[in-house]
Amino acid sequence: MRIIRSIKKLRQFVKNAKRKGKTIGFVPTMGYLHEGHLSLLREAKKDCDICVVSIFVNPIQFGPKEDFSRYPRDIKRDKFLLKSAGADIIFYPSIKIMYPPGFLTFVVIERLSDVLCGNSRPGHFKGVTTVVTKLFNIVQADIAYFGQKDIQQSIIIQKMVEDLNMPLKIKLMPIVREIDGLAMSSRNVYLFPQQRSDAVILWQALKKAKQMINMGERSSQAIISSIKKLICTKKRVRIDYIDCVSIDNLTSLRKLKGRVIIALAVWIGKVRLIDNIIVRA
Ligand code: PAJ
Repeated sequence: MRIIRSIKKLRQFVKNAKRKGKTIGFVPTMGYLHEGHLSLLREAKKDCDICVVSIFVNPIQFGPKEDFSRYPRDIKRDKFLLKSAGADIIFYPSIKIMYPPGFLTFVVIERLSDVLCGNSRPGHFKGVTTVVTKLFNIVQADIAYFGQKDIQQSIIIQKMVEDLNMPLKIKLMPIVREIDGLAMSSRNVYLFPQQRSDAVILWQALKKAKQMINMGERSSQAIISSIKKLICTKKRVRIDYIDCVSIDNLTSLRKLKGRVIIALAVWIGKVRLIDNIIVRA
């Protein structure tokens, strides 16, 4: 496994690999890796000859009051995990290389970026689509892997690839969870023990929503108010949003029909957690 910090060197490597007819799989991450990230890499290894994982905590997707500076980082541990899981290349650029002085260009996907998490985190998805476009242009992969954990991000990237004719395929992978159901996230390390046990309520709420839909409930209002009530039993948990949206365009639904996403975001102390479930109504 090689660690490459320069764009030029990465391009050279990719060019050589492609000349030999190799296919490239790409997993973009912000590091502090867990089993969720590694599941993407494992899928990439099944599909592609060469797997590139990027580690870059992208400053422009964090709001001014968000956790950019304290976002967890441990490159030594990440290297070890990626080597054990069989990555070929870690692309680990500096902020200066990605955003040299005078950087002015951004990629914006309209409407999809303003709802759900975009509503609570203005500018977040603009930062994501910009860095992912840059990474796609640098790595030039055949397939890039994204997790359902960040379903809105994955849908936005998919739309961007279609709209801008980017020459790669996006593969969406399921959410990897802890034994008690909490979706794995680099931010889970922020949780104090009591908060960590409260955090299970997200998964319990989504399971409850699924159960209601399976029993025939089709009113999003009924589902949302029922899971709101469940979450409110945890006094330390504050709801950011709960919504039932269409998987095609992320619009809120009054009556559930077809494939829908139940998505939620909550604050536990200073930690914002998101989770979702895809259900057929
Ligand atoms: P990061 O949060 O590090 O996540 C990298 C990828 O891992 C994303 O596609 C995310 O959906 C996936 N992932 C995270 N937790 C997961 C879990 N429990 N199960 C399955 N997949 C999981 O998402 C980002 O970084 C950044 O926004 C990025 C795309 C790298 C752009 O900066």
